[in-house]
Amino acid sequence: MINLSEVEARAAARMDAAAWGYYAGGANDEVTLRENRAAWERLALRYRTMVDVTTRRLATTVLGETIDFPVMVAPTAMQKLAHPEGELAMARAAQACGSLMVVSTTATTALEEVRAAAAGPMWFQLYIYQDRGATRALLERARDAGYSAIVITVDAPMLGWRERDLTSGFTLPPHLTIANAVAAGSGHSRLPHGDGEGSALARHLQALHDAALTPRDIEWSHDVTGLPVVVKGIVRGDDAVRALGHGAAGIIVSNHGGRQLDTAIATARALPEVVEAVAGRGEVYVDGGIRRGTDIVKAVALGARAVLVGRPPLWGLAAGGEPGVVEVLQHLRLEFDLAMSLSGATSVAELTRDLVVDA
Ligand code: GLV
Repeated sequence: MINLSEVEARAAARMDAAAWGYYAGGANDEVTLRENRAAWERLALRYRTMVDVTTRRLATTVLGETIDFPVMVAPTAMQKLAHPEGELAMARAAQACGSLMVVSTTATTALEEVRAAAAGPMWFQLYIYQDRGATRALLERARDAGYSAIVITVDAPMLGWRERDLTSGFTLPPHLTIANAVAAGSGHSRLPHGDGEGSALARHLQALHDAALTPRDIEWSHDVTGLPVVVKGIVRGDDAVRALGHGAAGIIVSNHGGRQLDTAIATARALPEVVEAVAGRGEVYVDGGIRRGTDIVKAVALGARAVLVGRPPLWGLAAGGEPGVVEVLQHLRLEFDLAMSLSGATSVAELTRDLVVDA
């Protein structure tokens, strides 16, 4: 593999057009989708020289769990759209690469099955449902299954305006279900079909998700599970501080891959403010547009403990199943290792703020 774009092209060629549009697309004019990428590119590396970089250590920890390099698999919905083995293949690949998978509420495989598919660390991403009984049941299942943290997504009180899905009438094929919603008895395990009324996912979310999510839900999720809670979808220091004040252990700086509020600030730009506000009281992670080892170097240098990648593992999954995801993660690891060496760092601890400036 030369780069991730190559895998993206292979995945696009293999996938059904509507499903591809769902993965690839962003909200409205997709300004944030593009800016997420561009903002990493615009940062410049003030690399160090004359450092012996013969031996390097890429490993780090996230909430106390070791990962082989600072990249985690972001929660992405409905992975069986990419490959019949869906979330199971993703879980095995993440473990094979010493990464950590964040499993989506909106998975096409039950959370217990995904957890059982691989021994590596996994966090469970939670959408807070209007039905708090069903939400509690999801939290208890995640705890009982052995997930080690809960990731609450806070940037989707409603679904963004996704024009590709509205145009294609995006829905799940009849043989797939939102497996966790089946067990939750929500009656919404199948996306509505075939009436030509725009995006079925938008209707699913509107019917199920709670637009009244507040920071108290962080405490509640912790009380129900006893697990650390990470809050995903924050781009402001004051929001990060509110989340920490309600018991969050970590913050994911994210704008949902440009899929929610278009023209939202790019995550590379939001990251420094959040890192400063958190001031070491929790871990900070970032996602959105990470496609290169240099992006990972910049993110860690700006204070992220690790990054998450969403679309690239999906491309790997679509292009080649479990080995395809392994290839993507290994490639990112290779690029990160090289970029770290060329930056004059031998460990993630040596990736410090002074390495990055606005270009
Ligand atoms: C679901 O969370 C999505 O962004 O499509």
